[in-house]
Amino acid sequence: MAALPDPSAIQPLLEALTFSPDNLPLRKHVAGLLVQAQRLPEAEELYRTGLRQAPTDTDLQLGLAEVYTGLHKTSAAFVVVEELLAGAPEHARAHLLHARLLAQTGQLEPAREAYATALHHNPTLEDAALAAQLRESATPVPAQGPRPTDTTPVVDEQALFAGLEKPKINFADVGGMEAVKEEIRLKIIHPLQFPDLYKAYGKATGGGLLLYGPPGCGKTHLARATAGEVQASFINVGINDILDMWLGNSEKNLHQLFQMARLQAPCVLFFDEVDALAANRHDLRQSAGRTVINQFLAELDGAVSANDGVLIMAATNAPWHLDAAFRRPGRFDRIVLVTPPDEAARQAVLEVMLRDKPLAANVQMATLAAKTAGFSGADLKALVDVAIETRLRESMKQGRPLPLEQADFLQAVGQVRPSTKEWFATAKNYALYSNEGGVYDDILTYLGIKKPRD
Ligand SMILES: Nc1ncnc2c1ncn2[C@@H]1O[C@H](COP(=O)(O)OP(=O)(O)O)[C@@H](O)[C@H]1O
Ligand SMILES: [Mg+2]
Repeated sequence: MAALPDPSAIQPLLEALTFSPDNLPLRKHVAGLLVQAQRLPEAEELYRTGLRQAPTDTDLQLGLAEVYTGLHKTSAAFVVVEELLAGAPEHARAHLLHARLLAQTGQLEPAREAYATALHHNPTLEDAALAAQLRESATPVPAQGPRPTDTTPVVDEQALFAGLEKPKINFADVGGMEAVKEEIRLKIIHPLQFPDLYKAYGKATGGGLLLYGPPGCGKTHLARATAGEVQASFINVGINDILDMWLGNSEKNLHQLFQMARLQAPCVLFFDEVDALAANRHDLRQSAGRTVINQFLAELDGAVSANDGVLIMAATNAPWHLDAAFRRPGRFDRIVLVTPPDEAARQAVLEVMLRDKPLAANVQMATLAAKTAGFSGADLKALVDVAIETRLRESMKQGRPLPLEQADFLQAVGQVRPSTKEWFATAKNYALYSNEGGVYDDILTYLGIKKPRD
């Protein structure tokens, strides 16, 4: 084993690096020394920062994957090494590390394949200990027989990449909601874009933003548009993904989601209907549920890995059901009410929905917008559907397609009940009687019970 590097030799190099952070060869050298000195968290930091400058640098990727392996962050190591191999499929040392990780997690057959691939590309990489481990456990498995359960892959790539997208919409595609957009800019976009400025003023960055409000009013739409606004990746963790986490290996999945977001930074990691995940812990009798919540909180806190460049957003219709632990400082301490679309927004939403429909010249969306106070985006969709059905029935009778008339819409307005009233009835009770620290003041303001803040 190599002698430990002299700590006094590392210090000046670290200082040199702070003066020339873009010097990649220096960065790699210092990180390598830190690894030798077993200072793995510091090495991790150097590699991660480096990867932000040079996201596809295979030395940095391999270094980070090795550090994660050393820190027993196995799923993170998998994510990085598989990313490396996706870009550099002939990288022998990456295959070797992959083989070690696979062996460690009991995936012996893939481990043997990976090891063979490593040696194929570089025969000098022979690893006697690994080879022995792979031989030893070579219990013959019937070729067509069931796979032993311990070969379940630790990284489920399907699940991992299913929710990843690059949104094409931005704030311009969100009708109205100027105040909410401004709050999102202030609370999460600017801290992402100017972290040093925020630090200089002692303003905290990090943590997550929680959108809440009646269903169908654009929370999901807005989260996606936020990612588009900063040209970030978007990972949409839907209710089904969250429910899956309650089964079996769930904490790992959660960890991998955060890990992927960190690798994709800048990235918006969005937990839709987060109350499914974050329901009050008292309700949970199963210990599995508690483990998921605790893992979520640890990831949120950046306790597992720093969340630089990751905007964490969540949405819920029922913020009052969230475990109080979620609302602590540094977690979802910023909470924004997404109200039903105002008149301008309703018009914008209608225009989008009717873009490709045959319309009579007398259709006036401004009028329809004025007559649909309290309608959510989803209610407007229902209204359009009702109008179309009416016109379709008429068209069938006449045996020819007829354009939608203003009267169809006006009639539909009478048939669709705005769904947001019910939500506000419930919300009002919480805002009046459990409004600790004024968290729900926005509800009272919206309902005209309280004067707007200046
Ligand atoms: N302000 C808005 N501008 C454009 N479309 C909107 C707006 N608000 C809602 N919508 C549309 O209404 C529908 C429901 O919105 P969604 O984001 O799914 O609501 P939520 O997540 O709050 O339940 C979506 O099709 C969305 O595109
Ligand atoms: Mg939604």
